Amino acid sequence: MTTFRSLDDADVKGKRVLLRADLNVPMHDGKVSDSTRIEEIVPTIIELANKGARVILLSHFGRPKGPDPKYSLCPVVAEIARLLKRPVGFAEDCIGPKAASAIAATKDGDILCLENTRFHPEEEKNDQEFARKLAALGDIFVDDAFSAAHRGHASNSAIVTASRLIAYPGRAMKSELDALARAFEHPQHPVAAIVGGAKVSTKLAVLGHLLTKVETLIIGGAMANTFLTAQGMAVGKSLYEGDLVAAARDIIDKARSLGRDVVLPVDAVVAQKLAAHVSSRVVAVDEVGEDDMILDIGPRTIEHVISALARSKTLVWNGPFGAFEYEPFDNGTTEVAEAAAELTAAGKLVSFAGGGDTVAALNIASVKHRMTHVSTGGGAFLESLEGKMLPGVKVLIVQQTSAVAGG
Ligand code: 3PG
Ligand code: MG
Repeated sequence: MTTFRSLDDADVKGKRVLLRADLNVPMHDGKVSDSTRIEEIVPTIIELANKGARVILLSHFGRPKGPDPKYSLCPVVAEIARLLKRPVGFAEDCIGPKAASAIAATKDGDILCLENTRFHPEEEKNDQEFARKLAALGDIFVDDAFSAAHRGHASNSAIVTASRLIAYPGRAMKSELDALARAFEHPQHPVAAIVGGAKVSTKLAVLGHLLTKVETLIIGGAMANTFLTAQGMAVGKSLYEGDLVAAARDIIDKARSLGRDVVLPVDAVVAQKLAAHVSSRVVAVDEVGEDDMILDIGPRTIEHVISALARSKTLVWNGPFGAFEYEPFDNGTTEVAEAAAELTAAGKLVSFAGGGDTVAALNIASVKHRMTHVSTGGGAFLESLEGKMLPGVKVLIVQQTSAVAGG
């Protein structure tokens, strides 16, 4: 069991609370184009401010090489203020006199955002001295940036290890950690995992780890084509990774020896080019023509996947089934998503999903809010599925005990 401190126990009144957020949000024409990551942290900010904390937001933004106005957090602050319906101050640096004087001017309940931590190259080096300068600005550290937790940087790692700051997970971070624990530490079995997306190469470690954790592994997306090739099928002009055919074969063998169920497509929707509304047809996977591209799973596969979910109690989902950005190739993903949402609503399935494409696909299917938990993490979610301990999570752990075998 992994234990974390609870924000319920933090005495924050009058304290300077350094709140690590992931304000690395998409921008368009100088405005935030998707505020999901900000919306997620609103409850933590409001709670802390209402309890009388001086909330000091700390975040990276983009990948600047040193100070660069293009990567200023200033325009993001306007969006935070809009969502909070409260004023949010801004300091033009995250350490030094500018940060110190802005913080000194705050009153209890105020919210202040510091400039991009990556304007200092020491941030990404997890530099201890820099981390101590950040830590000196606060009394308590709260991390609500799960989506950045796969980075071991000064503002989410050394800030704790190189200082005496007591670290708490924020509410959004805690819900991510709880979801991961429900999926991997103490799940309700049987557990099914859907792993989709374009490339086996980016998911090899995920597949390897999930095989040890789940009863059913459902493989979709273009990466399934590599598995079909490994089984001797011709995939025509479909995307696949020739150099990973042997790795795919190994995964199938390993699954067999562990007694795991691997669900692969049995039929597919094929077309001659990837575009919306092109003419397409359904074929069995051993009937894919030379000029065909597999762009989605077919109806029989959808049925197989849905019945595998109906036999399961927990679902972990990363990666779409088809080229969901182009209608009608979103159909497989949408139908499975709807089935997962229905099973979840009926109390029969605990469903977790994450990853940029997966969340986009669930949004298209309008089921995002009907899943048990949808992670904000892209890389962080994927690395969690690989079984890795994320550096930003590691520093929040108070105690870790491994379960005693047997019983
Ligand atoms: C992300 O968007 O993946 C996180 O904010 C981390 O950013 P990075 O990939 O630039 O480290
Ligand atoms: Mg990233």
